[in-house]
Amino acid sequence: MDITSILLLCLILFSVSALIQLSRGKQSRKLKNLQPPGPPGWPILGNFFDLGAAPHQTLHKLKPKYGPVLGLKLGSVNTVVIQSAMAASEFFKKHDHDFCDRKCPTVLTAHNYYQGTIAFGRYGKHWRMRRRICSTELLMNRQTNEAARLRRKCIDDMIRYIEEDAAAAQERGEEGKVNLARLLFLMSFNLVGNLVLSRDLLNSGSKDGKEFFDAMNDVMVWAGKPNLADFLPVSKWLDPQGIKRNMVRDMGRALEIVSNFVKERVDELKLAEEQETKDLLDALLEHTGEGKQGPDSISNQIVIIIILEMFFAGSETTSSTIEWAMAELLRKPDSMKKVKEEINRVTGPQRKVEESDIDNLPYLQAVIKETLRLHPVVPLLLPRNAMQDTDYMGYFIPKETQIFVNVWAIGRDPETWEQPLAFKPERFLGSKIDYKGQNFELLPFGSGRRICLGISLAHKVVHLGLATLLHSFDWELGNNICPETIDMNERVGITTRKLIPLEAIPKKRVMDAR
Ligand code: HEM
Repeated sequence: MDITSILLLCLILFSVSALIQLSRGKQSRKLKNLQPPGPPGWPILGNFFDLGAAPHQTLHKLKPKYGPVLGLKLGSVNTVVIQSAMAASEFFKKHDHDFCDRKCPTVLTAHNYYQGTIAFGRYGKHWRMRRRICSTELLMNRQTNEAARLRRKCIDDMIRYIEEDAAAAQERGEEGKVNLARLLFLMSFNLVGNLVLSRDLLNSGSKDGKEFFDAMNDVMVWAGKPNLADFLPVSKWLDPQGIKRNMVRDMGRALEIVSNFVKERVDELKLAEEQETKDLLDALLEHTGEGKQGPDSISNQIVIIIILEMFFAGSETTSSTIEWAMAELLRKPDSMKKVKEEINRVTGPQRKVEESDIDNLPYLQAVIKETLRLHPVVPLLLPRNAMQDTDYMGYFIPKETQIFVNVWAIGRDPETWEQPLAFKPERFLGSKIDYKGQNFELLPFGSGRRICLGISLAHKVVHLGLATLLHSFDWELGNNICPETIDMNERVGITTRKLIPLEAIPKKRVMDAR
């Protein structure tokens, strides 16, 4: 080949490659321009103030106009909201890894909470290791029978408190109504205390237990408040709503109490001859101390934060779900009758419901699914964070975009559900749809790598708790209220619960088998 031919060939190759680069550039510019559609925002604040008190409901209303993948700007934060089963399926099946990071809210930087959190932890080896310890020890518990006994005990305690509260109300000359929301929360809080710390925080009459309960209640209030500081970095240090200041105070109280529990346990372990892992605290402590290195090692401070998180994540979620189920059943006497008859048929009138009965109670299971479809207590899941620039359904999603999956909207989508607003447990009878993260029309626990860590514990407690309430009492609404007038409005916080806590009158039903 002579020099002219070589030059000519080089020129051709150069032109072809330049053309390819040019067309790629055009394509990527095109993709970069293709953002999910959404409403125009305000300068600086974006759409932050358009979301209202119940963002999942506001976002749902935008779906007919903008479609199932919505783009927003919350202050300076790029945000995408997924609002259909098809878009969720695409998200979890094809992009779970791209979006499995989280953004930690400013409020959880108090006392360096973000360093220990699993729920808001950055994706990586530390998060993986902590999640593994918790799911193995707490939820697939080595001492399965012991954990089952504790669940039974906490639910039985709740039944006793209900009887006592109803009797006290009658003595005061009232109808005998009890605040079910409060008693359910006490039950689930005490259950987490038993499973995680082997402490009966509320029954033991201990001052620490009561103080911890109060501090955690306050912590949950601050954690559930929308915070401008998350969306406007300049306002972070100003803390315009005072949320972080309050959180520092109340989380400080809670951390101090848990750190005393931990110290006591460390001292006990030093004296113990044999060290048998009895709860999550023991399991976490196995990874602390001298000689432990790498992602498998954790500090005492992180142990304390993980313990706190189990109360955050495990108590109100479970109690609110049972409260919504009871409210729906009180509104639907037909469904109430069917589920009670089913429980009675399986257990007989004398025996208590057991966890082993759950598989034989299809209508009860359908009631819980229908409740979680209409009232997922974490309606937007916990926000995911894009780890890199990603092409999702033809849209360009830049790194550091936060993504919400509106499972509340998906559960009410008329394209998926017939009569979506009606409470009809029957729709699940004979259906294979479940909430374990494989059916994208029903995702109350999320899906993929970040699926709820407590799903199997929650499954047991919600079924056993609801069934025991129904089997132990007949429930009445009392004067001035009928099924049609039960308030079903929501209050959005760390979970979405009933705005007006559910109250009802229990009438003792079965012979006491205790
Ligand atoms: C009915 C009860 C419950 C519901 C509806 C629920 C729901 C959820 C949801 C929606 C998520 C986020 C999933 C995602 O972003 O994809 C989550 C995460 C989580 N849940 Fe639950 N949850 C419940 C009970 C529990 C319990 C009992 C515990 C433990 C004691 C627990 C511990 C956690 C933790 C640690 C995470 C964070 C997982 C991670 O990011 O890796 N949850 N839960």
